[in-house]
Amino acid sequence: MKISSIKGFTDIFPGEVEVWQAVEAEARRIFAAYQFAEIRIPIVEKTELFSRSIGEATDIVEKEMYTFEDRDSTSITLRPEGTAGVVRAYVESEMHKVEPVRKLYYMGAMFRRERPQKGRLRQFHQIGAEALGRSDPLIDAEILLLLGDFFRALRLSEPSLQINSLGDAACRPGYREKLLAFLRQKKDLLCANCQRRMERNPLRVLDCKEPGCVAATNNAPSILDSLCGPCSEHFAAVQRLLSETGVPFTLNPRMVRGLDYYCRTTFEWTTTQLGSQSAVAAGGRYDGLVEQLGGPAIPGVGFALGVERLTMLLRMQERAASPGPALFVVWVGEKARDWAFPVIHRLRQKGIAVEMEGEGRSLKSQMRRADKLKAVKVLIVGENELASGKVMLRDMASKQQEEIDLAGIETRLLSRKAS
Ligand code: HAM
Repeated sequence: MKISSIKGFTDIFPGEVEVWQAVEAEARRIFAAYQFAEIRIPIVEKTELFSRSIGEATDIVEKEMYTFEDRDSTSITLRPEGTAGVVRAYVESEMHKVEPVRKLYYMGAMFRRERPQKGRLRQFHQIGAEALGRSDPLIDAEILLLLGDFFRALRLSEPSLQINSLGDAACRPGYREKLLAFLRQKKDLLCANCQRRMERNPLRVLDCKEPGCVAATNNAPSILDSLCGPCSEHFAAVQRLLSETGVPFTLNPRMVRGLDYYCRTTFEWTTTQLGSQSAVAAGGRYDGLVEQLGGPAIPGVGFALGVERLTMLLRMQERAASPGPALFVVWVGEKARDWAFPVIHRLRQKGIAVEMEGEGRSLKSQMRRADKLKAVKVLIVGENELASGKVMLRDMASKQQEEIDLAGIETRLLSRKAS
């Protein structure tokens, strides 16, 4: 009997995995440069952690969580995101007592029971980062610079950055009332979901993608006109820092995000290339969350990016070609084979990706295989080459061949990493 995978839960096969590994390696490199350290948090947490932090009146908590009763009747949930778990770990371990400023990153699977479609899965993967303990606008900008550097390192021409400020406990209630007064007048034009949720969470209506709701809220008051002095200054500083460091952005006062813990700076890196699932990375500031989860009043800001969406974009922009071996050794005759075997072993020990075949197939078939594997260079060795002490090194892209000396060949290949 064939057993299929669960809808929205996918396998990631060789060919694709290499792209993931390249993304993860680049992320680790950039996190190290920006001084973020890795944290590994559990995949399952108590349900109340998510309902309290993400918010009861959000899509995630209302209908997308995988929640189970454990054998001891505790309600547990597969993590739908990483921020809540990181903050829980930070509070529970009392990290803040040793050093309140912590820059942490994580990578891993998240679970949301959404309707699967292109770029939207039920098990998906995030690479995320949380900076705890800093309220200054520099860290907001730093996180955006980090993401900008990351996309640039991956040679992506998109996504582009949209930012907004959601204000804080001083100014958001005033805006909420203003918006609610506006929405009450338009109530009949809103979708059923927005009508139901609008009194509890009016800002969510601005994020609804239903055409009726978009049209009805076209002239809704902008949160940016309601920011208090400190929020306004903070947001102006973030914008100034981005401009000074050359990170282009647009203001989107309708961007409210799908989680309730945000305040002040919020952002999304979006692309036009993935249809409706346009957000590749998103995040913002969440100054009240540590306190809400039982810790001291410590601010936080962070982001998460969707690895499936990112790798899809890399493939669409043809930035994802997984590289073949740096060198493929084609050998003819047993003597050449016996010469090649220890040589490639030593090259591999030095970290060079090298491949050779084990059976004595024809030169033509071996060349075909090198081509299929997308080898960068091919070294051709036969008994004549061994006798003359010279071998052919062929560049597969340019088709140019050069004759190189057998003596010291490893040093030669290593010195230019066989490229
Ligand atoms: P989020 O906007 O819910 O934020 O998710 C971040 C990213 O995860 C999205 O932009 C998207 O790329 C990806 N993503 C979300 N849901 C799915 C899905 N069903 N399938 C595929 N990809 C998906 C958060 O999760 C916050 N914790 C981000 C954050 C960190 N804010 C502050 N710190």
